[in-house]
Amino acid sequence: MLVGKGDMARHNATVKVPVRWPLAGLSAAGLVALIAAPEASGDPAKAIAYGKHLSQECASCHRHDGVDNGIPSIIGWDAAAFRETLGYYKEGSRPNPVMVSVAQSLETDQIEALAAYYASLPKPARSR
Ligand code: HEC
Repeated sequence: MLVGKGDMARHNATVKVPVRWPLAGLSAAGLVALIAAPEASGDPAKAIAYGKHLSQECASCHRHDGVDNGIPSIIGWDAAAFRETLGYYKEGSRPNPVMVSVAQSLETDQIEALAAYYASLPKPARSR
């Protein structure tokens, strides 16, 4: 049996959408792009504040009053020496397991911030 011709689909769906979008919808994406993440670099006060926040993780071992309780005090450290030392831990050339894992968990900007914070603290008075 011959099947008849298929029905011609009738595409008559030329729906006319009125182009009257509110302009607010268009600018939202632009605004989001303007809100950049506030980086600690550049503003020393911000870096120190961020470093202070991060140092809570360190203070359980490195006392902020400068007392060496078997773990060296790190307050008042020169920022460059601080960065360098954390770099040694990070790459493992200074192999203390605790500090290697601490250093490896830190991003470069976090090390910068911690360096700025610890350098801003007064060196402990030598009491020995
Ligand atoms: C669980 C304890 C612990 C925590 C937490 C810890 N440290 Fe340490 N840190 C140590 C010990 C122990 C040493 C000494 C290791 C060694 O002999 O290399 C050390 C050494 C250091 C040194 C070198 C000190 C020196 O005199 O050479 C620096 C700098 C340092 N830590 C920074 C930090 C920072 C910054 C943090 C927080 C992000 C931190 N540490 C968190 C235990 C800790």
